[in-house]
Amino acid sequence: MTDTDRFHLEGKTVILTGSAGRLGSHFAETFASTNANLILVDTEEEKNTKLRKKLKDKSKGKIVVKSTDVSDEQNVKNMVKEIRQEFKTIDVLVNNAHYVPRGDPNIDAKFEKFPLSLWEKTIQSNLNNIFLCCREVGRTMIKQKFGSIINVSSIYGIVGPDQRIYGKSRLNSPSFYSATKGAVVNLTRHLASEWGKYNVRVNTLTLGGVYDKKLHGNSEFVKNYSKRTMLGRMANPNDYDGAILFLASDSSKYMTGSNLIIDGGWTAW
Ligand SMILES: NC(=O)c1ccc[n+]([C@@H]2O[C@H](COP(=O)([O-])OP(=O)(O)OC[C@H]3O[C@@H](n4cnc5c(N)ncnc54)[C@H](O)[C@@H]3O)[C@@H](O)[C@H]2O)c1
Repeated sequence: MTDTDRFHLEGKTVILTGSAGRLGSHFAETFASTNANLILVDTEEEKNTKLRKKLKDKSKGKIVVKSTDVSDEQNVKNMVKEIRQEFKTIDVLVNNAHYVPRGDPNIDAKFEKFPLSLWEKTIQSNLNNIFLCCREVGRTMIKQKFGSIINVSSIYGIVGPDQRIYGKSRLNSPSFYSATKGAVVNLTRHLASEWGKYNVRVNTLTLGGVYDKKLHGNSEFVKNYSKRTMLGRMANPNDYDGAILFLASDSSKYMTGSNLIIDGGWTAW
């Protein structure tokens, strides 16, 4: 096997949470192109089913939809049991789902006015989903003595948001986002330390902001954000393809407990 062959995931089983979202649906395409068996997990059943239709003829792997709420214990247990029955082994788990209650009138409340109930709801959902998916899939990976878990975080999990870039855009990143994304980085290190002896690798993939035409248009925010990066632009979803395949595959077989930061240089100055 050459080093480049190690990027290959053909025949492996990959669970991708948050697969119907903006980045998740792109990651789904990336994994489908490797002919991996792919489990698309998202509560957005309609979007997820459409995505499967789009991808199924492009991949030699099996593509399956699960409408699991990954913050619910019983749902996650059932999902993992079904996946194990169908595929026997689980090679890769990508914890990419993230819950933001966009319709909530308090979502952009200042921290000093932020309701405890909304804090609890978002912290619980976003930490429970990582905890439960890692625990339930981790059990299988421990038994089989291999596996790669990728926890998706954000630059706001390692630095505070620069409040000067938002203006009146209302695109400010909420406090619970910083809290949960920061927790992901260190939970990853903790799990890596417990599961290294089972050859189960756990890494964080930390991402910078992705440009979304519908959401951002040609706004002042995009200009301000871009200026804060060394490369002078927001990310495109495909800027992360190499990194996610690297972490998922044997290319990163000596890497665990790490945080791979891909952010155009945002956090480097
Ligand atoms: N988009 C960015 O600019 C950006 C930047 C840095 C990091 N990230 C990270 O990348 C990941 C994907 O981001 P995105 O922009 O695609 O987000 P998104 O909001 O577009 O998608 C998130 C998806 O997760 C699903 N989800 C949420 N809670 C769930 C649950 N309990 N059970 C099942 N599904 C659930 C949602 O239905 C949604 O489809 C997130 O972890 C995010 O924090 C994104």
